[in-house]
Amino acid sequence: MSLRLAVLGSGSGSNCQSIFNAIDDGRLDAEVVLVLSDHEDAYILERARQRGVPAEYMDCGGFRNKFPLEVQEAVAARLQELQVDLVCLAGFMRLVKEPLLKAFPRRILNIHPALLPNFPGVEAWKQALDAGAKQTGCTVHYVDAGMDTGEILMQAYVPVLSGDTPESLHARIQVQEHILYPAAILSAISRL
Ligand code: GAR
Repeated sequence: MSLRLAVLGSGSGSNCQSIFNAIDDGRLDAEVVLVLSDHEDAYILERARQRGVPAEYMDCGGFRNKFPLEVQEAVAARLQELQVDLVCLAGFMRLVKEPLLKAFPRRILNIHPALLPNFPGVEAWKQALDAGAKQTGCTVHYVDAGMDTGEILMQAYVPVLSGDTPESLHARIQVQEHILYPAAILSAISRL
């Protein structure tokens, strides 16, 4: 039986699209049963709707970064109701805490645009550029209560080229992300 995935994102959802694509071309035996966003107008919700996947907005009460515990509790209940097996954070910019971690132990993954433990946090590609790193990349890891600190599942390297701008570097990292995330999900599924 194919696994039931939920995807949480705050932005354009290109990583969510890469999961849809991997399902469609048979790389991933799974189904996305729900897409959630903390931004009502995030394109990730539109991508889900275009596919006929339920897409729902999580109202975080006007907080910019906080993920209120009562919202996490409601999300955990919704995901359990839908019998979700694995939760994939894809460009989701809030910290997940106990209500969700306890409901889905070792069942929440995140993709981060750097070679963790280097450059956790926001705009990691910019951090790499500012630090003069010769290479960076992307990481898929299990989510714990820290910021980008959970056990690493898979990584891909991306060279930093002379003349790279934040945009050009992030674009090359994203090419790798779109390959890495479906492969890492497959690996996580095999360990469930
Ligand atoms: C991706 O590059 C992802 O790695 C990053 O946000 C982007 C979302 O793009 N996530 C983080 O920085 C989390 N710390 P997308 O909406 O097109 O998938």
